[in-house]
Amino acid sequence: MVRDVVIYPDKRLKLISKEVMEFDLKLHQLLDDMYDTMVAKNGVGLAAIQIGVPQRVLIINIPNENINDGKPIKSETLEVINPVFIKKEGSCKHQEGCLSIPSVYEDIERAEHIVVEYQNRYGEKRTIEDNDFLAIAIQHEIDHLDGKVFIEKLSFIKRKKFEKEWKKRFK
Ligand code: CO
Repeated sequence: MVRDVVIYPDKRLKLISKEVMEFDLKLHQLLDDMYDTMVAKNGVGLAAIQIGVPQRVLIINIPNENINDGKPIKSETLEVINPVFIKKEGSCKHQEGCLSIPSVYEDIERAEHIVVEYQNRYGEKRTIEDNDFLAIAIQHEIDHLDGKVFIEKLSFIKRKKFEKEWKKRFK
């Protein structure tokens, strides 16, 4: 089911999400709703808090242009629960956007190489290592679990400019 996306500057985006203890049907329903919502909004990643659920759950689906006409495939979705960074190395800059701050795209600096330990929807331990777009996406989504959004990483001047333009949009 497609759920409403929490839009900046909603205070819920500042919550520190809680660790998942029960890997039950309720969690699976949450993951399925997150997928439906992400796809409906044409996103490549979503954290649970973005649909108002403060739990350490995120999903990522980076469609491949050469497969399924570039459309997302549910079974290819990475479902990450209770993630922990094991390694964070180097730095790189890429353009990022966020379903909670629609139509805003900014270059953001992140670690280039990451190793993350997490659990899947059945509570099984998994590890992921990446030094490409997935590494960026995971860092962006884990920030959401810690109550942070990507525009907080902008310089003071760029952040001021963003806030001014963002306010204008809702007048
Ligand atoms: Co986001």
